[in-house]
Amino acid sequence: MIYQIEMANISNILLRWYSENGRTLPWRVNPEDAEAGKNPDPYKIWISEIMLQQTTVNTVIPYYKSFIKKWDSIDKLSRADEDDILAFWAGLGYYARGRNLLKCAKELSEKFDGKIPNDKKTLMELPGIGEYTASAIRSIAFGEREVVIDANIERVVCRLFKIEKPVNQSKKDIKKYASQLFPKLHSGDFAQALMDFANAVCKPKKPNCNNCPIATSCLSLELGVVENIPAKPVKKDKPVRKGFVFFIKVQPNSFLLERRPSKGILGGLMGFPTTEWEVIKNKPTLPLNAKWTFTKQLVTHQFSHFKLELEIVLGEKVTSKFDSSKYLAVEQQSFDLMTLPALMRKVYTKAIKF
Ligand code: ADE
Repeated sequence: MIYQIEMANISNILLRWYSENGRTLPWRVNPEDAEAGKNPDPYKIWISEIMLQQTTVNTVIPYYKSFIKKWDSIDKLSRADEDDILAFWAGLGYYARGRNLLKCAKELSEKFDGKIPNDKKTLMELPGIGEYTASAIRSIAFGEREVVIDANIERVVCRLFKIEKPVNQSKKDIKKYASQLFPKLHSGDFAQALMDFANAVCKPKKPNCNNCPIATSCLSLELGVVENIPAKPVKKDKPVRKGFVFFIKVQPNSFLLERRPSKGILGGLMGFPTTEWEVIKNKPTLPLNAKWTFTKQLVTHQFSHFKLELEIVLGEKVTSKFDSSKYLAVEQQSFDLMTLPALMRKVYTKAIKF
């Protein structure tokens, strides 16, 4: 019983902390406005939660604002062009999110009368919506009781209850404690309270324990182990894949881009032509007749499951006629670098110096 009271006490303190210190975010209805009868827009909550997967709040804000300006409803989004969405998503990375967003909007239009459902199972059957996003949407947009757990909330829970094993080995314990901590009412506010608290106070490095409103309940603080929690998971080295990327100048200020095959990593996105990405760097087949320079300059990029290493090969004085259905010649001046994925932006920044 004492334990339950303690849990309720911690959640009340955090809810109060949130109403005084929570961030004002463009998709968010803060507790004061909610009290005055304002409801969150499920469309906005959905878009923001998709963008916030793998991307920080500060990076997301400007993208979110221009996305909502451009596609202000599920109906509008369902009629969007995939290329426009992917070009928009270039700076955010993890393109599957952009692709799934469009697929999901189409499904919502066709099967759900253009509305976001609030049933958990139905939500989780939609493209791009997993357990976390479904519970975030249900609690934040619809006020349903959910236990929302993201990486930031995991950190707070692990510290508060001194869960010492790495997070990937502690999922069950985290869920158990979080379920006890989440209040029956206002679980959307509580989830957002934990996220903001994790960002402002219970930070990954140098947590601000001196100004922590729940310091007296924190088991890791009591035992002096806050900064060791959550424990780092044992990381395996990522495998390396190698290849070549071709920076082909067709005019002094013009170069060739190619659309990547629709299947696979960066599928369907524009970029500089590359060879296959392989474990062993094979001699490349050159894509055109030109004066080729192997620059020995490497561009490296981390994907989730491997590290990529591409050597830049410069092509000049192109003598073969290039297939314009395969290649797109773009002019440096009229080209928006931000429409390319991060790997290709790195290639451009290095290659342009030659
Ligand atoms: N990260 C993911 N969702 C969030 C939200 N609603 N508020 C703040 N940070 C978040």
